[in-house]
Amino acid sequence: MSIIKIAPSILSADFSKMGQEIADISKCGADVIHLDVMDGNFVPNFSFGQKLIKEVRPFSDKVFDTHLMILNPWKYIESFAKAGSDIITVHHEACGARLKETLKEIKALGVKCGAVINPDTPVSAIASVIEECDMLLLMSVFPGFGGQKFIEYVLPKIKEARELINSTGKDIDLEIDGGITKENVVAVKNAGANVIVAGSTVFNEPDRAKIIKELREM
Ligand code: DX5
Ligand code: ZN
Repeated sequence: MSIIKIAPSILSADFSKMGQEIADISKCGADVIHLDVMDGNFVPNFSFGQKLIKEVRPFSDKVFDTHLMILNPWKYIESFAKAGSDIITVHHEACGARLKETLKEIKALGVKCGAVINPDTPVSAIASVIEECDMLLLMSVFPGFGGQKFIEYVLPKIKEARELINSTGKDIDLEIDGGITKENVVAVKNAGANVIVAGSTVFNEPDRAKIIKELREM
């Protein structure tokens, strides 16, 4: 079983002091900083872009995990790599037939890569690109907003994705994103997820070190 990593999503942080927020969650035990990039087209919301990532990069030495919820992501991967991303994930739903090529382009920039699927996309949609991936990301809400409710029908997909990863014999991370709480974290870990994104659950909790530890150890 791969090691459990907790990845707070800064979408729920205080944007007026993002550098300090990132330094704080890093000190509080986050393993990964999850950066949700939204373009108002692929998803019905905006968040932030390369400039913010570049400017907060010096505030943490943790892994910067950039989740691109944008159309035509291949146009922007170089700038997100240069901004300081350690891993960039792109949606099957945004890339279509260009998914494999886009993953290869990310790796060619010296950055890790991952494929993402929405709750209603089957795991089989990304089976043909698994060998290119350092991580698979399963959405457990429809992307666009933090603070949504976990979609239960994603649980069997986590198990299926873990079996797909095991069949490769490679150490590929399986990330779950959306609606993770203390109530469902054990179920997602048991199903096989090892990178746990949590936005509102971490940032709405006054004791961030405690909640990060609980999510990791429960
Ligand atoms: C949704 C984002 C998620 C989200 C997680 O579009 O990709 O990363 O911010 O937030 P919570 O944990 O609050 O569901
Ligand atoms: Zn995300």
